[in-house]
Amino acid sequence: MKWLLVNAMRFDVFTLLPEVFSPYLDSSILQRARQRGIIEVFLHNIRDWATDRHHVTDDYSFGGGGGMVMKPEPIFAAVESVLGVPLPCPLILLTPQGRVFNQRVAQELSAFPRLALICGRYEGVDERVRQHLVTDEISIGDYVLTGGELPAMIVMDAVARLLPGALNDPEGAADDSHASGLLEYPHYTRPAVFRQWEVPEVLLSGNHAQINRWRREQSLLRTYQRRPDLLASADLSEEDRAFLEKLIKGQTDTQG
Ligand code: ADE
Repeated sequence: MKWLLVNAMRFDVFTLLPEVFSPYLDSSILQRARQRGIIEVFLHNIRDWATDRHHVTDDYSFGGGGGMVMKPEPIFAAVESVLGVPLPCPLILLTPQGRVFNQRVAQELSAFPRLALICGRYEGVDERVRQHLVTDEISIGDYVLTGGELPAMIVMDAVARLLPGALNDPEGAADDSHASGLLEYPHYTRPAVFRQWEVPEVLLSGNHAQINRWRREQSLLRTYQRRPDLLASADLSEEDRAFLEKLIKGQTDTQG
């Protein structure tokens, strides 16, 4: 396979736990994307920019209560020395208070040649980091993790696989669940009969028009059954709408 030589997308990650990234970045599709020069990941330990003797990066919350808060100085120093001022790219704070990450946000971020990510720990980061340093805040969902490292990996993974050449199948990302605003259709592989469970006949027919139509309808059906909220903003054709109307009226065989 031939690859167009383009500059790698660069990620700079600011974290107190750089070591947790290696197992994932050094395996999986992300490792392959790095080897192919599609992405580059630079990990920066915020502790390296703490100037006191013990390299302290957190402190008590003014006003009492709460837990420890990440101090602003090491974060500002790390970001400004690595990225420079003004910032050359979006600087994203991973936080449960951010806008919720989804496929649309992944697509939006994949258009940038470079992204920087700050992983919060403890109870959070000093508010001045939010107000005067970061350009965006992202949450990976409405639950609270112990830090932003897993969310940063999730964002990098979802963005990297959208970049040209990251997946072996060039169409790979186009059919994904959520890519078109719908859930993906079901997949089957060999054997055609497993424990008497048969693969839907249409998939063995070789008739690509029929296969595409079946897949589209399965996508619509799944989305309707599992995530009807997605239908309101999905990109639907007249044919799709007619199919959904029949579904809603209960006139469609939903067995596949
Ligand atoms: N840090 C802790 N929880 C998080 C979440 N849900 N999303 C992003 N960063 C986080």
